[in-house]
Amino acid sequence: MIDYFHRHLGAKLMLSYLAIIAVGVTVLIFTSQSILPSSFSRHMAGMGTMMNGMMGGQGFGGYDSMSQLYADFRASFNEALLYATFAATVVAIILSLYLSRNVIAPIRVMSLASQRIAEGRYDERVQVPGEDELAQLAHRFNQMAEKLNQVEAMRRRLIGDVSHELRTPLTAIKGSMEGLMDGVLPATYETYQQIHAEADRLNRLVDDLQELSRVEARAYELNLRPLDISLLLRTVTKRLSPQFESKHISLELNTAPDLPHVFADEDRIIQVLTNLTGNALQYTPEGGRITIGSHQRNHELQITIHDTGIGIPAEQLSNIFDRFYRVDKSRSRRAGGGSGIGLTIARALVEAQGGRIWAESAGEGQGSSFTLTLPIGR
Ligand SMILES: Nc1ncnc2c1ncn2[C@@H]1O[C@H](COP(=O)(O)OP(=O)(O)OP(=O)(O)O)[C@@H](O)[C@H]1O
Ligand SMILES: [Mg+2]
Repeated sequence: MIDYFHRHLGAKLMLSYLAIIAVGVTVLIFTSQSILPSSFSRHMAGMGTMMNGMMGGQGFGGYDSMSQLYADFRASFNEALLYATFAATVVAIILSLYLSRNVIAPIRVMSLASQRIAEGRYDERVQVPGEDELAQLAHRFNQMAEKLNQVEAMRRRLIGDVSHELRTPLTAIKGSMEGLMDGVLPATYETYQQIHAEADRLNRLVDDLQELSRVEARAYELNLRPLDISLLLRTVTKRLSPQFESKHISLELNTAPDLPHVFADEDRIIQVLTNLTGNALQYTPEGGRITIGSHQRNHELQITIHDTGIGIPAEQLSNIFDRFYRVDKSRSRRAGGGSGIGLTIARALVEAQGGRIWAESAGEGQGSSFTLTLPIGR
């Protein structure tokens, strides 16, 4: 019961109103029991003297004396009422002061804090003791401020990362152009091809960033329907077959013929599978092997893309899905790697479809496995 009052502001308010009524009634009862009789007899004594003077001691009677009696009773009752009103007012003032300290003060604190947050000070937090609705509001307020802080930190980091990523190809293009202008670099096909490759890199980066922002903001429609994953895997590997051939990488496709359909978006799954297989191709040296398998596990289908490539150090397995993360920038670049956005997009797309994605690797040079799960179609 006490806990209930502790947790609910409405209950506290009701309790304070009841306290004011209780004090008023108590004082009224007290005055009617103790003050009213003495006040009444005081009035009566005054009246008795007056009547004696007026009627020569004949006692009182008749209309005038009765109305005087009522008037005296009313006057003494009003006097008692006055005490009760005074006492209830004092209690009401004390309670309203207490309540305003408990209700208005936290609201004022939150109002000031929200003003400071609006000015960009996202580290602002409020402290409201207790467990009632105001304390809960303060807790939610702090959660909101924390989220804003994180978003702001992410925005800053993103701008820093993007500028850094843009700078590398831009510096290369600028350097080559200066070399050409100064005559240090020969104006050959290779030089122009190098500049073109850097410009291409910039272009890809901008496209990837656009796609990433679209995916992270969920600014796309998901057309979820039952899909045959074996068919999708064949589509993807067929599309990438020129890369398999040119790198002399063999492909093994292990999909059971009676796999249930997954409930997913065809284009998005093809995008994810292309991305993972593309990575496997990219980070596997010539003559390697890529195995793609699929099997059912409880209510989901697991698709694993395994390669015999350069592998990933165990401590970096959880980071590779982060935006712009590359295991080793120079190694990635040498292997023809991109900007480190592919897996971030893949994870966002898989999770949006109710799946999970993770990587496994026995270490550098030991190959890697990427597994994604998708819910089975209804
Ligand atoms: N199959 C793999 N084998 C080894 N390392 C991998 C593999 N797949 C991904 N990685 C590592 O994870 C990093 C992130 O991969 P991700 O696909 O996100 O970026 P990326 O391939 O570098 O660029 P892009 O954005 O063009 O895909 C890669 O840079 C690479 O270091
Ligand atoms: Mg990639």
